[in-house]
Amino acid sequence: MKRRNRAKKPDTMVKFQLMPGTYYVIRPMEHEDILQVAQIDRVAFPGEWVFRTQSAYKRDLDNPSIRYIVVCNKRDVSKSEGQAMQKLPWFKRLFSYERHLNVSENVVGFSGFWMIMREAHIIAIGVRGGYRRLGIGEGLLIATIELAQILNANVVTLEVRASNEIAQDLYKKYGFRVAGRRLRYYSSDGEDAIIMSTDNIASMPFQASLQQLKKAHAQRHRGIFAQVR
Ligand SMILES: CC(C)(COP(=O)(O)OP(=O)(O)OC[C@H]1O[C@@H](n2cnc3c(N)ncnc32)[C@H](O)[C@@H]1OP(=O)(O)O)[C@@H](O)C(=O)NCCC(=O)NCCS
Repeated sequence: MKRRNRAKKPDTMVKFQLMPGTYYVIRPMEHEDILQVAQIDRVAFPGEWVFRTQSAYKRDLDNPSIRYIVVCNKRDVSKSEGQAMQKLPWFKRLFSYERHLNVSENVVGFSGFWMIMREAHIIAIGVRGGYRRLGIGEGLLIATIELAQILNANVVTLEVRASNEIAQDLYKKYGFRVAGRRLRYYSSDGEDAIIMSTDNIASMPFQASLQQLKKAHAQRHRGIFAQVR
C-alpha cells in the first residue's frame, strides 16, 4: 500500500516550550490569524506594513506560491482548571471557554515567503513586542528554511534594512551572506536594503550547520523542539 506523504500539509510543523505550561506551536497561517498577524506586522515594520493590508494577506493565503507560518502560544489547561470550569453555570462557562481560547491561540510571530522558481524569498519575519529574545524569531527562521526545502527551494533570499543589525545578525547566524545592496529601496524613508542569500540549502555543509543550530536552539530554550509532522 502506498504511504501518504503527510509532510507537505502539516497542521503543526514544530512544537517547542519556552515556559512551563506554555507551548509554542509553529503552524501554517490561516485566515483567522490575519488580524493578529497584521497587528504584529504594523508594529514590527512601521514603514512597510501598509503594503500588507488585511486583504493582501487574504489574497496571499490563497496563492500557492506564497507561504506564511505563525507561532502561537498555547497554554495547557490544568486538570483542576478544567474541572472548575465544568462547575460554572453554562453562560459563565461559555465566556470562560472563549476567554481561554483567546489565550491559547495568541499569535506571537509570523514569517512569510514566496517561491520564485527554486528560490524562497522571505517577505517578512516579525515577532510580537514583549516576546522578543526568547528564540521565537530563530524558531520561525528554522521552520521557514525547512518548509522552503520541502517545497524544493535550493536557496533562501531576502532584503533587510541596512540599519537593521538585529535581523542581519539572525540571518548571518543561519549562513546568509550579503549578496548586494538596493539603493533607496524603502519608499517610506529612502533607506537602502541589503540583499542576503544562503548557499544551497540542500548541500551537506548547510544542512550540517542547520541541524547543529537547531539542536542548540532546542537545548537553549530548555524544552521540546520536536518535529511533529
Ligand atoms: C528580528 C526579530 C524577528 C528577531 O526575533 P527574536 O525572537 O527576538 O529573535 P531570537 O530571540 O530568536 O534571537 C535569534 C538571533 O537574532 C539576533 N538577535 C535577536 N535580538 C537581538 C538583539 N536585540 N541584539 C542583537 N542580536 C539580536 C541574534 O543573532 C540572536 O541569536 P543569539 O541569541 O544567539 O544572539 C525581531 O527582533 C523582530 O520582529 N524585529 C522587527 C521586525 C524585523 O526587523 N524583522 C526582520 C526583517 S525581515
